[in-house]
Amino acid sequence: MPVQYVMYKGIKFPPAYNSEHSLNFAHNEFLVRDDDIFNVTYPKSGTVWMTEILSLIRSHGHPGWSRTILNSDRVPWFSTQLGLESALSYPSPRLLTCHLPRHIFPKSFSCSRAKVIYTLRDPRDVVVSYYYFSKMCNSYEDPTSFEQFLRDFLNGELPHGSWFEHVQGWMEMKGRENFFFITYEELKQDLQGSVRRLCQFLGQDLDEDDISSVVQNASFTSMRENPMCNSILLPSDIMDQTKGQFLRKGICEDWKNHFTVAQSETFDRIYQDRMQNLNMAFPWDRR
Ligand code: A3P
Repeated sequence: MPVQYVMYKGIKFPPAYNSEHSLNFAHNEFLVRDDDIFNVTYPKSGTVWMTEILSLIRSHGHPGWSRTILNSDRVPWFSTQLGLESALSYPSPRLLTCHLPRHIFPKSFSCSRAKVIYTLRDPRDVVVSYYYFSKMCNSYEDPTSFEQFLRDFLNGELPHGSWFEHVQGWMEMKGRENFFFITYEELKQDLQGSVRRLCQFLGQDLDEDDISSVVQNASFTSMRENPMCNSILLPSDIMDQTKGQFLRKGICEDWKNHFTVAQSETFDRIYQDRMQNLNMAFPWDRR
């Protein structure tokens, strides 16, 4: 059966938890607090990984909180119906998450001192991860083929809109003191150093043992074993665990196992064209 996406400002959102009302509320009425910390991503860029890292930083590396409370309660999806309730009753300072593009992020953010951590990933790996995720998550259309899915990604027609517009919109915040961006590739290459930088941005004083514990508990292996973040507890009508695993591979450059030469060339051409104004070099630009 075709999925009836929720539409908001011309962008498709998966119907399971989103509604036009929840998105409109998040955009126009949600009151951002000065000590809020937002984990913002385009889907499949490392959202749940950053959720885990931020939770562990908050608990100075002690895994108790992350192992007993669902990630969606630790870091609520405030733009969804369920997440909004948790966000409103969450004592400050809140950790919050979303996939919202900059132009529909809460308006009250502009005049606040809340912090945003934006994680981005090689878009070729995003599209591969998104393809497998869409197969197992019932609030997404089952992709007909990778070829078609890639075309939809490049045309900005997948749920949550265009990757290019998402990145461009958020990167306009670059240089602001309440904005921090990091790539999935940097997290993979040097998680210890990345956690140190995050702590500095957040003003959290963790010693090296605490940081090592964050790194250990946010590893792919630890997270895969933790039911509070590996999605195993999601209802089967939402996430069909027989069709795959949410924590699928957790590697860089899996796109090389999926793209044909022609797809790669098309991708590069569109990427160059859409990204040239940004004037930034990301780790994947060197590959
Ligand atoms: P893959 O499908 O490539 O494995 P999101 O949370 O934004 O939906 O992103 C999910 C992607 O992040 C998945 O990518 C998942 O495996 C990966 N991921 C989650 N936790 C990770 C970790 N600790 N280390 C590496 N990758 C991780």
